Amino acid sequence: MELLVNNKKYKIDTSPDEKLLDTLRKLGFNSVRRGCNTASCCVCTVIVDKKPVLSCSYLTNRAAGKEIFTVEGFGDKAKKIASLLAEEGADQCGYCGPALINTIIGLEFENDKPTIDEINDFLKANLCRCTGYQGQLRAIEKYFNI
Ligand code: FES
Ligand code: FES
Repeated sequence: MELLVNNKKYKIDTSPDEKLLDTLRKLGFNSVRRGCNTASCCVCTVIVDKKPVLSCSYLTNRAAGKEIFTVEGFGDKAKKIASLLAEEGADQCGYCGPALINTIIGLEFENDKPTIDEINDFLKANLCRCTGYQGQLRAIEKYFNI
């Protein structure tokens, strides 16, 4: 089958039960991380047709004909969010970073002027083992100019 990732087409062989997380990592998108592998932590989040999806529980076959983005595909937008997270001390081990950035961009696709409550609600499932979330929230508020 063919997959469109970060605006580039890839021809892949996949099995019916392969998950998008495994496919993307095989293609070399190492920003896509595995955490719980049971749809609970959001560390595997990528964007499919402008919506955040948990790639650990999303069948690769479902992504046929859709636009998939990993953080590598978001260029300057991802770099800007990453530097705001670093400035606010929200980037410690960094393991959750790519998924968090993808989720922030997913929020922006849906609502580019979110309130603090909407941000908290949209990001409530993104777990981070290192921070207390306050630095992340400050960085996100700066990104959305709140
Ligand atoms: S690894 Fe996918 S939700 Fe945790
Ligand atoms: S910075 Fe380590 S898990 Fe979030």
